Amino acid sequence: MYDLGGTALFLSSRDLQIGRGEPVQDTARVLSRYLDGIMIRTFDQSEVEDLAKYGSIPIINGLTDYCHPCQVLADLMTIREHKGVLKGKKLCYIGDGNNMTNSLIVGGIKMGMEVSVACPKGYEPDAELMKWAAENGKFTCTESVLEAAKDADVLYTDVWASMGQEAEAEERKKIFKGYQINSDVMAVAHAEAMVMHCLPAHRGEEITDDVLEAHADEIFDEAENRLHAQKAVLVKCMLD
Ligand code: NVA
Repeated sequence: MYDLGGTALFLSSRDLQIGRGEPVQDTARVLSRYLDGIMIRTFDQSEVEDLAKYGSIPIINGLTDYCHPCQVLADLMTIREHKGVLKGKKLCYIGDGNNMTNSLIVGGIKMGMEVSVACPKGYEPDAELMKWAAENGKFTCTESVLEAAKDADVLYTDVWASMGQEAEAEERKKIFKGYQINSDVMAVAHAEAMVMHCLPAHRGEEITDDVLEAHADEIFDEAENRLHAQKAVLVKCMLD
């Protein structure tokens, strides 16, 4: 925002009346009179949707439990930089069927990519999104990591315990064991496969140290592209 010549405010729940029980629709109406746009990072997707419904300024989803669209814009940008094209490339996600998975499915399918997901039973991505993906493109979801990773052009993973799931972290380590990008997985993917991670990475859990270090250029290009992609979002939403 500063690079674009604007001003940014960071408001945590402690700074807002929301933290004291104000309904989000009222916060939306107050903030709409002070600001030109809001990026919100929260847990509940309905909070973002209520902000957008009751506010009169652009509302950008900076992450919810349901989805993480801003990250995926940076991810798609990075894949295009490294692979030249998106259409026809196979994107494989390994791990928890979480907010990242939901957004990767939407972004990947919309761009004409094949999307495969490997996750343990009971940790699948959103059912409605999977149905939409199967109807609108090439999509599979399996418990088998090697099946999902076969011939993949892009291998993607994320933490086993997301923000807000800290208390489940130990339990999740058992459930997700094996849902990891490692050399066995690299061996079945395309020989030139790139590796992505939205960070923070837990080496030895969802990704091994050797794979992360071998693909650090891709992973940190991805991190850098958050800056560029999110500037594009601000321009699109607030200047167009
Ligand atoms: N699934 C992770 C994504 C972090 C960028 C989380 O929600 O914490």
